[in-house]
Amino acid sequence: MSSAPFTVAIDGPAAAGKGTISRAIAAHFGFAHLDTGLLYRAVGALALDGADPIEAARALLPEALEDGRLRTAEVAQAASRVAVIPEVRAALLDFQRDFARRPGGAVLDGRDICTVIYPDAEAQLFVTASAEVRAQRRWKELSGKGDDRTLEQVLEDVRIRDARDSERDAAPMKPAVGARVIDTSDMSIEEAVAAAISHVEMCRGATAT
Ligand code: DC
Repeated sequence: MSSAPFTVAIDGPAAAGKGTISRAIAAHFGFAHLDTGLLYRAVGALALDGADPIEAARALLPEALEDGRLRTAEVAQAASRVAVIPEVRAALLDFQRDFARRPGGAVLDGRDICTVIYPDAEAQLFVTASAEVRAQRRWKELSGKGDDRTLEQVLEDVRIRDARDSERDAAPMKPAVGARVIDTSDMSIEEAVAAAISHVEMCRGATAT
């Protein structure tokens, strides 16, 4: 396989299937994967512990990404709150850009990968689904882990985070002009993954010629 950089940039709201699709693309093409939401979650968790979010982002260590609380709903909301701070975003920029250009190919998923982090990404996707479908998926996942929040509460959380992520001034979530939009509301995981892989294949072909 060629070791030339090739970047797959994937944006979209929470629980649309970005993570599953990103991991599948990384496995299929042998690319490295970065879930950029984890960076904001790590800063959010440190802020919940009382740290200054800007300082926390500037001094972020790889160990912070291992924190067992990062997948909780509380940390997700904290991540969305610290993500509106331009200095927090700026502190995390270089790491993400370097990752995007690592030799051998990279997949990054988040909210602003196509629009801000790496607009020259060879393959760009915006993975979305209706708020109701995303809440239903997240609720099922949480119930399976013994979380007793109701579907209505999960839907409310999804709506609050969508609004904050897409209405902020700094790098708001929106589909990039050149991104292929995949709405997974009525798709199986297999269909969504196949659509994403076929788009990346097409972009690889276009890059090779
Ligand atoms: O993808 P996620 O749910 O783990 O992201 C958590 C929060 O981090 C999300 O609500 C907004 C923020 N985020 C961001 O602003 N930019 C990114 N590239 C990734 C996540």
